[in-house]
Amino acid sequence: MLVLNTSVTPASEDFRHRRSHYDSLMADLKKHLAFIRAGGPADAVALHKKRGKMTARERIAGLLDRNSPWIELSPLAAFGLYDNQVPSAGLITGIGSVSGRFCVIAANDATVKGGTYFPLTIKKHLRAQEIALENRLPAIYLVDSGGVFLPMQAEVFADKDHFGRIFYNQARMSAAGIPQIALVMGMCTAGGAYMPAMCDENVIVKGTGTIYLAGPPLVKAATGEEVTTEELGGADLHTRLSGVSDHLARNDREALQLCRSIVTTLGRRPSKPRREAIEEPLYPAEELYGIIPDNPRQTWDLREAIARLVDGSRFQEFKARYGSTLVCGFAHWMGHLIGIVANNGVLLSESALKGAHFVQLCSQRRLPLVFLQNITGFMVGKDYESRGIIKDGAKMVQAVATAEVPKFTILIGASHGAGNYAMCGRGYGPRFLFCWPNARTSVMGAQQAAQVLVTVKRQQREREQAELSEEEERRMTDMTLRQYEQEGSPYFSSARLWDDGILDPLDTRKVLGLCLDLAATSPTRESRAPVFRM
Ligand code: COA
Repeated sequence: MLVLNTSVTPASEDFRHRRSHYDSLMADLKKHLAFIRAGGPADAVALHKKRGKMTARERIAGLLDRNSPWIELSPLAAFGLYDNQVPSAGLITGIGSVSGRFCVIAANDATVKGGTYFPLTIKKHLRAQEIALENRLPAIYLVDSGGVFLPMQAEVFADKDHFGRIFYNQARMSAAGIPQIALVMGMCTAGGAYMPAMCDENVIVKGTGTIYLAGPPLVKAATGEEVTTEELGGADLHTRLSGVSDHLARNDREALQLCRSIVTTLGRRPSKPRREAIEEPLYPAEELYGIIPDNPRQTWDLREAIARLVDGSRFQEFKARYGSTLVCGFAHWMGHLIGIVANNGVLLSESALKGAHFVQLCSQRRLPLVFLQNITGFMVGKDYESRGIIKDGAKMVQAVATAEVPKFTILIGASHGAGNYAMCGRGYGPRFLFCWPNARTSVMGAQQAAQVLVTVKRQQREREQAELSEEEERRMTDMTLRQYEQEGSPYFSSARLWDDGILDPLDTRKVLGLCLDLAATSPTRESRAPVFRM
């Protein structure tokens, strides 16, 4: 494979300007992450500790192997939503190694509104389970939750992807041989009681862990019976009498140790991923900060990013002379042979055809695909329509949709229009999707959206033989630009779980390397080609 060249000059004014812009993006990211990592309000954290409980993050740290990597998923879920009172959506999820085996962990943060489930908490829990299923990873639930957030019951209870789906998934995953383990480290009530009950094996902590369908106040109201929480659903009752729990732990730390022991008994382990020796890129990843333009509309050569992400900066380009707005080629990423699809401008018919061809090639060869998105969309206009750009775009979208190999997407710039779909956006089932702090996601660019809306309004007025005043036009434009500016932000997308998190470009190689390791040990199905419109 050829080593990529670079034309980046770190001493240039341009580089320094971009770098200082990116430094401010990174400072924002760090600030927001520090805010959410504090968990709930200080008094709730203090009360939690006073009760002898570890915080959700301390529990995860205590569960993981020393020096285990930890990929936290969507830490910024619910950021800016629900009055910004539900950091990380009240649920910490991620992937790390427990007793030498990678597991998906989901831990309720009881300092955040009693660890209750808001709509985005459920979405985050379901996404963690989906990752466990796709990558065949044991799922460990650290339960400490007051169940659904009652004021939002209409948005969390009865629909397909609401609270009940969590337990449905547990049953299906257990049936598929994916271990389900729960540690009851706090309240586990009503529907939530099914979380440990549906697990293959569970542990309950004496004094703080409780499991029941209805708490003492509700029991009193319903039957007049007066009971304490321990009598109704404590550790002693469930491990000695009811059989709802399998192991009693005296405190959080002991529960975590018991869980580590359970993981050692899970039996057949996935084989080590096959990969070649890892070679670091020739160029420092830190230069990415000075390469990425501060203006998201400005194009830049994606090969500069590839050169800083792949092993030895080696890249074997496919059809380099054809459809040049899409860069396709083979590389090694942390020792894994992969196919890369990256945007170098707007998608044209040729680039879409080349993309479809390359995706099929990788499917046939069973190679994982990595999509680097920086896409404003497909080319529009009479000439392109008459040459059938839609049917060529459709071929790429079809190829991506039907490729059964593990797919990974990183939004490293713009993500607009059908380009989002052709480049394996969230709807196209990438195993993981991350974005960089400079990413922008919206159906189209802000300027284009404003122009479309103004044109539509002007035509409407003309039909009514009236005029669109300059003032009205300016107001519409400003409003649309503001809206798209806000909604295009990676924080807006990450808060809604359109991605699995915002990644520092410097961490991208390592994080994706681990995702590739996981994918390499899970089975892939054979791809079947759809009917392509020729
Ligand atoms: N829905 C909405 N809000 C809830 C809630 C629920 N199910 N459970 C707790 N909260 C809120 C509380 O109103 C409080 O909010 P605030 O800080 O804005 O006042 C916050 O969560 C913390 O609750 P609090 O009771 O002060 O904390 P705690 O640590 O002592 O107890 C629980 C936490 C979850 C054990 C307790 O609140 C409880 O029993 N909740 C009811 C659980 C239940 O019956 N759920 C059934 C739903 S399926």
